[in-house]
Amino acid sequence: MNKALDPAVLQAAEIAGSSVSLPAMDAYWMPFTANRSYKKAPRLLTRAEGVFYWDHTGREVLDGVAGLWCVNAGHGRPRIVKAIQEQAAEMDFAPPFQMGHPKAFELAERVAALAPAGMSKVFFANSGSEAVDTALKMALAYHRARGDAARTRLIGRERGYHGVNFGGISVGGMVANRKHFGHGLAGVDHIRHTHDLSRNAFSRGQPAHGAELADDLERMVALHDASTIAAVIVEPIAGSTGVLIPPAGYLKRLRELCTKHGILLIFDEVITGFGRTGQPFAAQTFGVVPDMITCAKGITNGAVPMGAVICGQHVHDAFMTGPEGAIEFFHGYTYSGHPLACAAGLGTLDTYAEEGLLTRASGEIGEYFANAIHSLREEPHVIDVRNFGLVGGIELQPIADAPTKRAFGVFLDCWQQGLMVRTTGDIVALSPPLIIEKPHIDRIVDTLRTALRRAV
Ligand SMILES: Cc1ncc(COP(=O)(O)O)c(C=O)c1O
Repeated sequence: MNKALDPAVLQAAEIAGSSVSLPAMDAYWMPFTANRSYKKAPRLLTRAEGVFYWDHTGREVLDGVAGLWCVNAGHGRPRIVKAIQEQAAEMDFAPPFQMGHPKAFELAERVAALAPAGMSKVFFANSGSEAVDTALKMALAYHRARGDAARTRLIGRERGYHGVNFGGISVGGMVANRKHFGHGLAGVDHIRHTHDLSRNAFSRGQPAHGAELADDLERMVALHDASTIAAVIVEPIAGSTGVLIPPAGYLKRLRELCTKHGILLIFDEVITGFGRTGQPFAAQTFGVVPDMITCAKGITNGAVPMGAVICGQHVHDAFMTGPEGAIEFFHGYTYSGHPLACAAGLGTLDTYAEEGLLTRASGEIGEYFANAIHSLREEPHVIDVRNFGLVGGIELQPIADAPTKRAFGVFLDCWQQGLMVRTTGDIVALSPPLIIEKPHIDRIVDTLRTALRRAV
């Protein structure tokens, strides 16, 4: 790491240059964070508007990742703020079991209307992780309800990220998220991931090679037998494992195989949902309709936690066969369809609609973004640049024996220059708010270029 970027040196300089005092930091055990080094050199965000954050020293920071892939309409949007404020004053909470409130129904209708035809039922959760575990349980219960109770096996994909609950880490394929926590769910297996730099490096949009990797599902079927497999879950574009774009034809092939074998296909669209790929959902962008979509993040623009499972009518209907007075799905959360989240969701969908944000990434701005980030291909350490819609990934050659260090150094350098990016392994991920303009994209790329040129 550039000596000038040493965290302790930076913190000393920042604090010396500002009149802001830092909060006590002992008690908060931060998630997915190197707590000890963070607390030596904290990066505190204190205000946000549009495509910018401001830190505790008053410095403007361009948001290159929509917070954490969620603030698709940009920060502090008036409709969303007002919707939350008014809902908090009108009704704070309504129990979701055997009771309801109008906005939950309204939001479900609106979300279903955005989804592919036939995906008409919406079950609310409070996060992507909860949406995933809900979908997995739904898949198991679906088969049982249809008298096919032997279908209990769940298939994920290597390098998949499906949140952090036990179901999600079991079908997920990130070693660090799995190895600390025991065996996870029994009866889970994984198909191969699709990342192949030897054939696909520097692809624009969908890589040409790798559709045949979907056939790995046939290997699972040969090993376990289709009659034991309930569902396959994949991210159409894997975000958290480094922006892995599906090879052309891959998702269609996976759909065909699932249909052939009676296996439910779940698209985890926690990141790709709500406009990231240039359509409301990646299912529409790639022309492949799954049986269930999990979503979260952009459903409320990140303003209030919410997740959801959108499922095909056929999935829902399989549950609706018992006595009418009986609960059909023994699952739900105290905060499923929370009034504040529903209000935020409605304000969010209004904002997306008014500004055409759900398709903006497929237009000129997406093209500009692609050209801009691919201009980084000759910079030091860059071994791949990939993009789709308003998602970008820049993969760096790892430092020998110190994986992740180079990319994290770039992250810190960008932060110092006033840009927030995200890194996973040695990949820099970009997913700016969908309201981003060309000068902001220029600034992202210029900042990254500078950071790459001085990275060790
Ligand atoms: C594809 C995918 N699924 C699930 C999750 C988990 O969502 P959450 O952090 O809201 O639980 C994420 C989070 O980034 C995600 O990218």
